[in-house]
Amino acid sequence: MNLNSLGKETLIFATQNKHKLEEVNHLLNDFFNVIGLHDAGFGDDIPEDEPTLEGNARFKARYIYNKLHKNVFADDTGLEIEALNGEPGVISARYAGEGKNPEDNIQLVLKKLHGVENRRAQFRTVICLIFNHQEFLFEGVVKGTLLTEKNGISGFGYDPIFKPDGYEDTFAQMPMELKNKISHRGLAMQKLIAFFANMLALPGI
Ligand code: IMP
Repeated sequence: MNLNSLGKETLIFATQNKHKLEEVNHLLNDFFNVIGLHDAGFGDDIPEDEPTLEGNARFKARYIYNKLHKNVFADDTGLEIEALNGEPGVISARYAGEGKNPEDNIQLVLKKLHGVENRRAQFRTVICLIFNHQEFLFEGVVKGTLLTEKNGISGFGYDPIFKPDGYEDTFAQMPMELKNKISHRGLAMQKLIAFFANMLALPGI
């Protein structure tokens, strides 16, 4: 298949998060019309019960692909704390309980790391793409340090306590454009975009 001859195809992003969808649509606008689960006709969240980020990203992409047989991608992200053996990882959203309260999650991390010297952590995003019946995985990682108290009010989730390596600010103190450029999700997305850019450059795919 030659993508150039197809014009703008639809690509499904298996998310209900409008903010993420908008961000991704902006990035992939040259290649695709990216639609979310809502516009693809799915009102419900897809279960995220797998034990790994890869597993969850795969499950979500396959779930939609098996129903619609359309090109689709899904992502999953976790905060992996070295001193806690990679916790909270795949349960980052619900670390302090099913209420998925970001403030409670932050307080739990701070409590668990109280008095702990090693404050190294990373955010990791895995994207699973199913494109032309083939499956591809892309990973983005940003390493940093967890502070002992919150700093900044931008962003979401664990941003106020995460300071990426090479910067003085936490993610919650940075302009969104900078965070998006250097973040786990940003890096994984850049790999996805490079993948599509390469395909377009190769005639006859
Ligand atoms: P998701 O897979 O993108 O929904 O992310 C799962 C959870 O990881 C979120 O609910 C947040 O707690 C955390 N998380 C993901 N991305 C970020 C980020 O960029 N900053 C802070 N926390 C994040």
